[in-house]
This record gives sequence, structure tokens and C-alpha cells, in this order.
Amino acid sequence: MKSELEKDILKALFTEEELRDRVHELGEAIYDRFRGKKPLFLGILKGSFIFMADLVRACQLDCDIEFMSVSSYGAGTESSGRINITHDIEQDVTGRDIVIVEDILDSGRTLAFLVNYLKAKGAASVIIVTLLDKPARRVKSVEADYAGFMVPDEFVVGYGLDYGQKYRNLPYIGVLKPEVYEGV
Ligand code: PRP
Repeated sequence: MKSELEKDILKALFTEEELRDRVHELGEAIYDRFRGKKPLFLGILKGSFIFMADLVRACQLDCDIEFMSVSSYGAGTESSGRINITHDIEQDVTGRDIVIVEDILDSGRTLAFLVNYLKAKGAASVIIVTLLDKPARRVKSVEADYAGFMVPDEFVVGYGLDYGQKYRNLPYIGVLKPEVYEGV
């Protein structure tokens, strides 16, 4: 397939096939966990949009599907890391079993905030499903209940993940060439 994005990719980390297989495994595990219940899948925009779409189709449960957007200040510079909600969940979460769907768990600031926020709003349970887990960067004590892949501390893009809002539509996950972000 022709691509204007691939020239910036150093190497593929996870191929389309590897992603498909792993997302199916996650979908089956979550299905078994929530069979007979009605969980609420909560995708955190924008990075989770492709993973969310594939995961909920790999997990044929009776469920609700919602999204939130948050932005963090200073996450890149390891400063305040304050989280701001830019689009809140639309449904009442009181008594609900929430499945947070993320593309990547990095410092943990976003998910630490969201778990507390949802529990404070009365959720019955909150679990975390992340496609990628980058434990080397963690500053908050937060662990995923389900993680697709562990990743090294490299700049990964594709399958929803961006650099400067680009590469989200790359169909696999790749490592960005350093010259793309060096000197920026
Ligand atoms: C990314 C990712 C997570 C968060 C993880 O979002 O989607 O939400 O960072 O980082 P943390 O563990 O250090 O909090 P980003 O703010 O880049 O926005 P995006 O999803 O729109 O790309």
C-alpha cells in the first residue's frame, strides 16, 4: 500500500497481524470476565479510537460505549502533570462496571486521575485495559488490569498513537525515526 507516513518510521514494532491477534485475546479475556454483566467501555480520546473500535468488536458483550477527552499540562516535561477534562463522560456511572480503554500507559498520570475520578462519581468498579504499557516512564503507582504489549522507552506511533497529531492512521505500531523529532 502507498504511504506518506512510512518514510518516517524506523521499524515496525507490532504488525497489523500481531495487533489483531492480541486484541482478540484481550477481547476474549474481557468477555469471560464480564459475561452476564453490562460493562461500560470508556475510550480515552484521541489515542484509543482505533484500539477501542477493534476491542469492542472482539468482545461481543452487551455493553455501553462512551468516550472522554483529557489533556495534561506538563506531562512531557515531567512538571505539574495536571489533568484537565476537555470532554466528560455523558452517562451516569453510578454503580457501573467501567472498562477504561487506553492506547498507552506511560507516566500513569492520566489513568491515576481517571480511576479516582470515576470512583468518586460512584462507579462500582473500574478496570484498565491498555494496548501498550511503558513501565520505564511511570511516575504514578498505577497498573493495567490488561495490557496488550510492554514497550521500551522509544517513540512509538500508529494504530491511534500520534506524534504532533500525525501517524494515528498508520495501521501498525512503529518506532519513529529520531530525526523526525530531534531538533524540534
Ligand atoms: C496519551 C495517551 C494517554 C496518555 C498516557 O494521550 O493516549 O491518554 O497520553 O500518558 P500518561 O500515562 O503519561 O498520562 P495524549 O495526551 O498524548 O493525547 P491523545 O490521546 O489525544 O494522543
